[in-house]
Amino acid sequence: MGSSKLVLSFSFLFFISYSKSSFSLIHKCSDEQRDALLVFKQNISSMTRSHALHGSRWYDQVKMNWNTSIDCCDWDGITCNNFTGDVISLKLGCGLLQGVVEPDILLSRLPKLEAIDLSYSGLSVLTKNVAHEVNPNFLELSLVACNLTVFPNFLGAMKNLKILDLSSNFISGLLPDWTSKIGGNKLTYLDLSYNSITGLSEFVSAEMQYLYMRSNLIEGPFPPWICNMGRLLYLDMSNNSFHGVIPRCFGKITSSLAMINLGINKFHGIIPNLYGDCGLLLVLILEENNFEGEVPSSLVKCKSLKILDMGNNRLYGTFPRWLGDLPKLQVLNLRSNSLHGTIETPTMGYLFPSLSIFDVSNNGFVGNLPGKYLENFNAIKDLDKHPKTELVYTSGSYYSIIPLEGSKFFSPKIVTTATVIDLSSNKFEGDIPNVIGNLKSLMALNLSNNNLTGQIPHVLGDIFDMEALDLSRNQLIGEIPQSLENLTFLELLNLSQNHLTGHIPENRQFSLFTNDSYFGNPDLCGPPLTRECKDLSSPKVKAKWICMEAVMLGLGCGTLVGVVWGYRMLSTETPKWLTAIANAGGHIARKKRKHVHLRKRN
Ligand SMILES: *[C@@H]1O[C@H](CO)[C@@H](O)[C@H](O)[C@H]1NC(C)=O
Ligand SMILES: *[C@@H]1O[C@H](CO)[C@@H](O)[C@H](O)[C@H]1NC(C)=O
Ligand SMILES: *[C@@H]1O[C@H](CO)[C@@H](O)[C@H](O)[C@H]1NC(C)=O
Ligand SMILES: *[C@@H]1O[C@H](CO)[C@@H](O)[C@H](O)[C@H]1NC(C)=O
Ligand SMILES: *[C@@H]1O[C@H](CO)[C@@H](O)[C@H](O)[C@H]1NC(C)=O
Ligand SMILES: *[C@@H]1O[C@H](CO)[C@@H](O)[C@H](O)[C@H]1NC(C)=O
Ligand SMILES: *[C@@H]1O[C@H](CO)[C@@H](O)[C@H](O)[C@H]1NC(C)=O
Ligand SMILES: *[C@@H]1O[C@H](CO)[C@@H](O)[C@H](O)[C@H]1NC(C)=O
Ligand SMILES: *[C@@H]1O[C@H](CO)[C@@H](O)[C@H](O)[C@H]1NC(C)=O
Ligand SMILES: *[C@@H]1O[C@H](CO)[C@@H](O)[C@H](O)[C@H]1NC(C)=O
Repeated sequence: MGSSKLVLSFSFLFFISYSKSSFSLIHKCSDEQRDALLVFKQNISSMTRSHALHGSRWYDQVKMNWNTSIDCCDWDGITCNNFTGDVISLKLGCGLLQGVVEPDILLSRLPKLEAIDLSYSGLSVLTKNVAHEVNPNFLELSLVACNLTVFPNFLGAMKNLKILDLSSNFISGLLPDWTSKIGGNKLTYLDLSYNSITGLSEFVSAEMQYLYMRSNLIEGPFPPWICNMGRLLYLDMSNNSFHGVIPRCFGKITSSLAMINLGINKFHGIIPNLYGDCGLLLVLILEENNFEGEVPSSLVKCKSLKILDMGNNRLYGTFPRWLGDLPKLQVLNLRSNSLHGTIETPTMGYLFPSLSIFDVSNNGFVGNLPGKYLENFNAIKDLDKHPKTELVYTSGSYYSIIPLEGSKFFSPKIVTTATVIDLSSNKFEGDIPNVIGNLKSLMALNLSNNNLTGQIPHVLGDIFDMEALDLSRNQLIGEIPQSLENLTFLELLNLSQNHLTGHIPENRQFSLFTNDSYFGNPDLCGPPLTRECKDLSSPKVKAKWICMEAVMLGLGCGTLVGVVWGYRMLSTETPKWLTAIANAGGHIARKKRKHVHLRKRN
């Protein structure tokens, strides 16, 4: 009994090892394909980790010790068809490599090759741009940050290409006419962002779902074709020089779109109404154009909307309070427009239940601060829910839209990375309401340049997460509440140009602030001002030490590759109270938050 079991398991093991080796015989790659790979490889060498670890990408070193005595299908970065042994993909993305390579060799000598990914590999891609025989069933080409200077001609032969990512290269000038035919009608994903392209040919793919051309030099009107892309999900034309009006037809296709970014261009005219149901739309960014008219009321249909950014335009009319009904809205930016009137709050209905960034600065709003809203911003109240280490400054951004790698066909993750209320540069008057003290996870509050009166509420000292507090240029009176010493994350305080009186607190966080936090208050005294407090007994200054701890969260290639864009800062300069690193392409952000602990030394 026992021995037959033994025999059985022995023969079973034998069977496994036998079938494994015979299987590998079947799918061994051909000598010809192996040799093509070796030619391709001859310029490639590995980088040392320390050499390459800039920015925050997580690299995944590809071992290029391709060993000729083993099947090339087992080499690092290579995938073969299991049945024929043909090489079907070469993936060296984020591979910590260096050298100059010519993919043309692979394309002409690997007849079944379907995918190449050299993004962030460290390799520079050179193409002699001579016509090539290319597998017509080639599907995916990804050459992000590969020092590419021309649009490769071999793309013309890729009649079924689905995914093309050439972002962050040095491609310049007009795209050749034939580029519109790339992929026939199959092209689904096209990313040409961060190049120096000045003009597009008309891409006609009816299958197009993702179209990214951010940060180029493209001039011209809104491309009329876009209206025919009935399946378009994500559209990013931001930071170019597009001009003219948005055609009315655009209002129709918005019913399929999840993300629209037309920001930082020269569009003008009225924002078209959205005819469709708009239920999929998550992100609408129209900032920094010359749009006129009112905020379109059809937006109230966009129940999934998370980010609405219309800052820096010429919009007029009153505050679009019906936006408060959008249950998921996290970011509302209407800054620097010509909106006017009071920000009244309705007695019924929703009051922006998910909002965490509210920026209506630099408009013509009057009346009291919108206390009802401040009372109801639930997303800024919940200390536990708010991710504490998430304050990210991404090349001028408070929020990031990050497609996860390998999920090009899923919706990107929207990370609202800060809680901000900016009501500055309006004509608000009256007191700062005490309800503001409930917004425990508020990180930045700007009420500067209004006509606010009364005292600074003591409850501001309860907003534990506060990093920036700007109350400058108002009519505030009274003393600076001692409670503000409790704000241990506060890095920027501005109380200048008010009518504050008395002694400036000196302990804890207040040791960080210099005299330009207090200018223009003739009756304030004590350090850092030179004016002494004659009648008040100055508290003894205690020695302090500051312990800085930086929490860094790297976002890397392993998890995140894609477009990151975002919210302009409260101020135009990079404020010192936010620290972060954005890599050159603005593609990946590094998170960093400074925790400033102040302790007394005995
Ligand atoms: C190549 O693979 C063979 C067989 O696995 C092994 O014996 C040899 O040491 C390898 N050569 C190198 C340079 O790794
Ligand atoms: C080849 O087979 C392996 C398992 O034997 C499987 O993991 C892999 O996905 C297959 N590759 C292809 C391209 O079918
Ligand atoms: C190797 O690099 C040189 C330029 O440095 C280039 O001309 C040549 O085509 C490259 N060879 C391959 C196989 O990529
Ligand atoms: C791209 O070219 C620049 C010089 O223009 C060089 O410094 C850089 O290392 C190259 N990048 C890659 C990925 O080869
Ligand atoms: C816009 O593009 C220019 C280059 O064309 C770049 O220098 C700039 O940083 C980009 N701005 C944003 C906000 O992406
Ligand atoms: C500010 O309010 C005061 C009254 O409180 C008023 O006299 C003054 O004109 C206001 N200033 C501005 C610029 O609105
Ligand atoms: C600072 O916070 C502590 C603990 O929450 C509290 O007891 C104290 O009263 C606060 N100080 C001021 C001046 O509000
Ligand atoms: C403010 O402080 C700076 C440096 O601490 C000093 O040079 C300057 O004179 C001060 N200004 C005034 C008006 O006190
Ligand atoms: C505070 O605001 C005033 C006036 O707006 C400005 O001059 C000063 O530089 C600001 N100080 C800080 C610390 O930001
Ligand atoms: C607050 O807003 C004013 C005017 O809009 C601006 O000048 C200032 O830099 C802002 N403060 C901060 C801390 O960003």
